Amino acid sequence: MSLLSRLMARYYDATMRGMEGACLARWRKGMLRDLRGKVLEIGAGTGVNLAYYGTGVRRLVLTEPDPHMRRQLQARAEGRSRLNLSVMDFGAEKIDQPDASFDVVVCTLVLCTVQSQASSLAEAYRLLRPGGQFVFLEHVAALDSPGLHRWQRVFQPFWVRVCGNCHLTRDTEQAILDAGFDFLQIERVRSRGGPRIVSPTIKGIATKPA
Ligand SMILES: C[S@@+](CC[C@H](N)C(=O)[O-])C[C@H]1O[C@@H](n2cnc3c(N)ncnc32)[C@H](O)[C@@H]1O
Repeated sequence: MSLLSRLMARYYDATMRGMEGACLARWRKGMLRDLRGKVLEIGAGTGVNLAYYGTGVRRLVLTEPDPHMRRQLQARAEGRSRLNLSVMDFGAEKIDQPDASFDVVVCTLVLCTVQSQASSLAEAYRLLRPGGQFVFLEHVAALDSPGLHRWQRVFQPFWVRVCGNCHLTRDTEQAILDAGFDFLQIERVRSRGGPRIVSPTIKGIATKPA
């Protein structure tokens, strides 16, 4: 276990506070409060999303591969028995659950970090029932802004090392399409309260065709 991952888990909530206050908390709430049925969240981190799931969630499975993050997630999950939840140690690329066993997969600020976007999205697709929803909130490459995209490319080698494999230049929108999903809704927005190089963001819902 590296010292860096321990530090990241310890200070994750504090470093995100500005962005949460400026926009992320509002976005999370809007995306999560009306979800229904059996929900899988991948890369759940310290469990920030737990505060926003509504009463329609019948079962919640949270996966998180980093042991330090998972410890905080478990602590936050305690006392939320209403959500009928479990915390599991899986990376997004391989989750030991049956095909088509979830109504919704939630993924917030994770596809920047996974080892393989293609494998992670293929796994989400496999786990969703036909017609199921992939709910995403991800910072992405600034493909609409050449100047900012250049800065993202400059900072990326450093950023990947100090921010737990977080990439700045991933075209996550295209990766979701390549995995076979259709977009039900997608918003291309800019986050506030954090570094400009992580501000280009996509959020929305993609569906697995019925
Ligand atoms: C930026 S944090 C986001 C945490 C949380 N989803 C949120 O919205 O605050 C990225 C998370 O992805 C996790 N992660 C890293 N590699 C992963 C992988 N291969 N599969 C799933 N999660 C991964 C990290 O441990 C970390 O908890």
